[in-house]
Amino acid sequence: MNKQTETVLNYHNRTKHRLERYAKGPESIDWEDQPDQFRRFSGCKIITLPSPGVELEPLFADLDTPEIIFAKPLNLTNAGLLLELAFGLSAWKQYGPNRWALRCNPSSGNLHPTETYLISTGNAFIESGVYHYVSYDHHLEQRCRFPGNLHDSEGLFIGLSSIHWREAWKYGERAYRYCQHDLGHALGALRYAAATLGWSVELLAEWSDEDIAKLLGLDRDDFKPLEHECPDLICRIITHAGSNPLNRKSLLESARSGSWFGKADSLRAYHMYKWPIIDEVWIAASKPQTDEPEWQALRQQFIQSSCTLTATQIIRQRRSAQQFDGKMPSLPQTDFYRMLAAVLPATAAFELWRWPPKIHLFIFVHRVEGLASGIYALPRDHDALAKLQTATLADFDWQKVSEGLPLYLLYSGDCRQISKTISCHQSIAGDSAFSLGMIAEFSETIKTTSWLYRRLFWECGLIGQVLYLEAEAAGIRGTGIGCYFDDSMHEILGFKDEQFQSLYHFTVGKPLEDKRLETLPAYGHLNGIELVDPN
Ligand SMILES: Cc1cc2nc3c(=O)[nH]c(=O)nc-3n(C[C@H](O)[C@H](O)[C@H](O)COP(=O)(O)O)c2cc1C
Repeated sequence: MNKQTETVLNYHNRTKHRLERYAKGPESIDWEDQPDQFRRFSGCKIITLPSPGVELEPLFADLDTPEIIFAKPLNLTNAGLLLELAFGLSAWKQYGPNRWALRCNPSSGNLHPTETYLISTGNAFIESGVYHYVSYDHHLEQRCRFPGNLHDSEGLFIGLSSIHWREAWKYGERAYRYCQHDLGHALGALRYAAATLGWSVELLAEWSDEDIAKLLGLDRDDFKPLEHECPDLICRIITHAGSNPLNRKSLLESARSGSWFGKADSLRAYHMYKWPIIDEVWIAASKPQTDEPEWQALRQQFIQSSCTLTATQIIRQRRSAQQFDGKMPSLPQTDFYRMLAAVLPATAAFELWRWPPKIHLFIFVHRVEGLASGIYALPRDHDALAKLQTATLADFDWQKVSEGLPLYLLYSGDCRQISKTISCHQSIAGDSAFSLGMIAEFSETIKTTSWLYRRLFWECGLIGQVLYLEAEAAGIRGTGIGCYFDDSMHEILGFKDEQFQSLYHFTVGKPLEDKRLETLPAYGHLNGIELVDPN
């Protein structure tokens, strides 16, 4: 094991929640001091995007076969829609004097550490350069203008970065994990938004973090110390066949010789607590330039979605359930099977994921029609089946329950209480139709390549985003669960070492609405609708 992996492993073990104590976090939270959720750069030209909220015709069910969706032309309206449907606001919620925005992409604690950049080259609707997206205003801030005429190199890219401090402010040392989950969700949100426009996403996984930072301007002296952004992902958006975008070298040269504008506004946070281990793991898990294999699962037909809503409706209505109806009638089996089939690698949602799956689901079934309550496994890769069988408790049955799905019953019995307990005692894990843990092929993956630690979490987030939208499409709701007792989950399943580790949990059921909350339109504030100040 190399030094970097040792640091990552140390971070991982140290940030486990345990029944007897939680991972280190702030002892008190001053809500007045919350870091600003919306980063802005002063001194940039603003490009207003056309009004958000436009409905597009593709149905959510059409996204299973995105090639049937007619590709929208690349212009400012549709680039704006891409950003809105992936990262824009979806509603405001208000309770008494408190008001908070929700977005199309979810985020642990609604803290939104992920920042979004759009890079455009050779498109007539906008100057070639790098732009920061501000979801609150639904506008772009021009950070860099590329030199020269790039008309032969029409291209659109999305870059993602994280402000770890925004998450650590509330969650302390475990926050770095949540930032990675959020990136996976963001990647999933981008894929659904692109597919709705008839476009697709190519993850440019070869890029080093250093190069992503150079392209997005994150290595510049434009940020307050402790409020810097860490480079994470760069994606190419394929809007039509035959485009010829700049390659990495030319993009980096354009950014190097471009004119840069703006300084990041302070997030206004008073940095009372410091979490140096987050910088340590960030450095240890930073990614160099790599060669990545071309791998893709062959797309397979799966259970059709019965949802008749449009993709834009499902994307904008996605929410996390705060509470579930513990007395819900059983979830129809076909809905359950559809949701599980949708997270398998042979689906359109995972086409951007260029590697064999490393994450497998262990599911606590509470209320699903025709299925015994108990623990089930869904290995997402057949090659992992034998390894999982060997590593789990010897008395698990591993009885295959479905012809069309790699779903196995391990243990029959009521797991409502146990799933609630391991999910930091949160009722949402037991009152749902099912909850689950995402189990990673862990030590083998990160043994020599520390930065794959992040990719494991991204894969979990991507699965989570599919589950969120599939749950909405089935007329129910999901919630990501970042708070769980890691080793208690491992004990229940029989894992004795670090070969497998649980990296994320999720729960799906019939939501109970909190009637005390008022819902306000996402972009009412841009359309002259005053958000009435409750004070
Ligand atoms: C990585 C991650 C972890 C989360 N963990 C929890 C959790 O442990 N408990 C919970 O009630 N909600 C959890 N959530 C849900 C967030 O609180 C929710 O996404 C956020 O408040 C924004 O609300 P929305 O999803 O309705 O847009 C999690 C979400 C994500 C993405």
